[in-house]
Amino acid sequence: MEQKKEAAAMITPEMIDELRVKVKPYLTDARYAHTLSVETEAAALGAIYLPERVVELRAAALLHDITKKLTYEKQLNLIAEFGIINNNIEDIALAAIHAVTAPIIIKRDFPEFATSDILSAVRYHTTGYAGMTKFDAIIYIADFIEPTRDEDICMQMRRSFYKKLESAGDEKERVVILKETILSVLRSTLAYLTSKKVRIERDTEAAVSYFSRGGDFT
Ligand SMILES: [Fe+2]
Repeated sequence: MEQKKEAAAMITPEMIDELRVKVKPYLTDARYAHTLSVETEAAALGAIYLPERVVELRAAALLHDITKKLTYEKQLNLIAEFGIINNNIEDIALAAIHAVTAPIIIKRDFPEFATSDILSAVRYHTTGYAGMTKFDAIIYIADFIEPTRDEDICMQMRRSFYKKLESAGDEKERVVILKETILSVLRSTLAYLTSKKVRIERDTEAAVSYFSRGGDFT
């Protein structure tokens, strides 16, 4: 635990500038543009909710889609090679497997960024989970509402989030808005997956039920 705290404290803005260059070859041009936009959005949300963690949030954003370019087979091989034992592979939806493999590549290629918070935010950026932290939620929401996404639901969510924030009086109200937003994004993901007849991951269902019962960020 001490070591993780130490690693987090050692991430500097200069390391982020270098990371921004290093992640480029891992991503397609479109994905890189999205990644940079998630970084900016995560930093904006971080400035509101976790001002002391903005640098780490930038790192998590830059790394969140790091394995998205790899084929499904390559990702399965990574999982087999690095032996993830806590995941039942059949529970991992096709579109979400990159969130399972990204932490493997972060630990292998970017160990200086492999803090527990960054690994968790990356691991759960497609599904969420019951008891997410604010740090997890910022990456999850930033990925959905960053301004290069042109899907109606993403633009609507972005507008509604910032509109609500305008009238928030204090930190407590701002956190309520973050919780409402995470729940809306989770629900819309659930609805989308259902409409596409894609299997829903248990973590997503658990997250919806957790936040709809008024659960707090952990
Ligand atoms: Fe993403």
